[in-house]
Amino acid sequence: MTEVDPEPRTDTRPELRPDHRLLRGQAERFGVHIVDDQLKMEGVDLAAVAAAVDTPAFVYSSAAVTRRYEGLRAALSGRRTKICYAVKANSNQTILRLLARAGAGADIVSGGELERALAAGFDPGSIVFSGVGKRDREIDAAIAARIRAIHVESVEEVRRVAARARAQGAVAPIALRLNPDIDPETHPYLATGLQETKFGIAMADALEVAALVANSPSLRLCGITCHIGSQIHDATPFLAGLARLRGIVDELRVRRFDLEYLDLGGGLGVAYGLSDPSVDAPSFGEALTAATADLDLELVLEPGRYLVGNAGVLLTRVLTRKQSGDKRFVIVDAAMNDLIRPALYQAYHAIVPVRLPAADAPTVRADIVGPICECGDFFARDRPIVWPAAGELLAILSAGAYGSTMASTYNTRPVAPEIVVRGDTFALTRPRRSVAAMIADESYPPWLA
Ligand code: LLP
Repeated sequence: MTEVDPEPRTDTRPELRPDHRLLRGQAERFGVHIVDDQLKMEGVDLAAVAAAVDTPAFVYSSAAVTRRYEGLRAALSGRRTKICYAVKANSNQTILRLLARAGAGADIVSGGELERALAAGFDPGSIVFSGVGKRDREIDAAIAARIRAIHVESVEEVRRVAARARAQGAVAPIALRLNPDIDPETHPYLATGLQETKFGIAMADALEVAALVANSPSLRLCGITCHIGSQIHDATPFLAGLARLRGIVDELRVRRFDLEYLDLGGGLGVAYGLSDPSVDAPSFGEALTAATADLDLELVLEPGRYLVGNAGVLLTRVLTRKQSGDKRFVIVDAAMNDLIRPALYQAYHAIVPVRLPAADAPTVRADIVGPICECGDFFARDRPIVWPAAGELLAILSAGAYGSTMASTYNTRPVAPEIVVRGDTFALTRPRRSVAAMIADESYPPWLA
């Protein structure tokens, strides 16, 4: 029998009620909270947002972003530090402007992100340009904008940046991204500090590459940088990276390189599930401050996810429910094109109803899936959930980082709108793109016009 069972067989064992525990106890940790059984972000009813802009939609809490940034800054107030927000995590212009106004710098990885960062008001002198491959015109734009530094990752790139700077009659500030060969013990796709990955210059080559920079009059070496990976929950891997880079930094100073900063990259993690650890910012700051006390350089960090991950939700509506044999499915109107993390990294995202169900409402195990014709189009598998009704709103939590920025238009699904909440108001900061606009972007070749 494959019909939806209006009275599902239920299993109400307490361990099958994690969403209730999440909602009652810890929703605040995920950027939302409950008032009168309604899920709210700051003072705004998420149901009201859905009514205004339809679903799926990304909703971000400005207070949660600011709180994270200020907390990290306070934790590192004991040492000279610049927090350069990794724009790739969430490049919504309002989020960028919020962080720029709070005093953050930016870590960018493309000419597009450079334009975004400048448009949002980041001081060019606080922008660093990461990435293992850069086009000439991206390098040119970065030099012309007088950003803080271009992070170079190979000998060829050193030569290329030197040539582009020479052509502009400029001296380009650069930092060497080294690969400290550290395993941060995270998802294999997110471990970027291992020697076998495409990232960074091998430690053994660092001094030779620095000598090449010294011989290039159009380059100035101002920093050393690394990024070992993502979803790291304490200072230990950062300290290991620091220890590896330390010898090179000391040696470069002996060789009279006038270094300004050491950049330990991004990668601070967030909790996606109830049992995930949360980074304790004060102890992270304390550990880094102590370990760098005798390092007379500015410390640069490039957090992305930590600042925005828990600050956003993806609102979605239940389209239909389905039962095939013992398997239950909740089909929602968001899909892998909106949030690809579960498909790509088998990532867990907590999912909660926007209207809190009764404590004794029946709970079942179900897959929560999107409408796209791919088995990878899922948000949760075999998840204990109160069997929702068609039309009911769900919030996929911790969707503030790598949600919208990784979205696609697969299945001609327009990229979802972005709403930013402040206090009891919310603003539609990017509307849902219309399909008509998507089609209008294209043209027919003359032979088929
Ligand atoms: N700096 C560099 C050079 C990076 O490559 C990255 C991220 C960051 C900073 C920021 O890392 P975060 O603090 O956000 O962990 N799409 C994946 C994450 C990919 C991260 C790539 N690099 C995800 O959804 O988990």
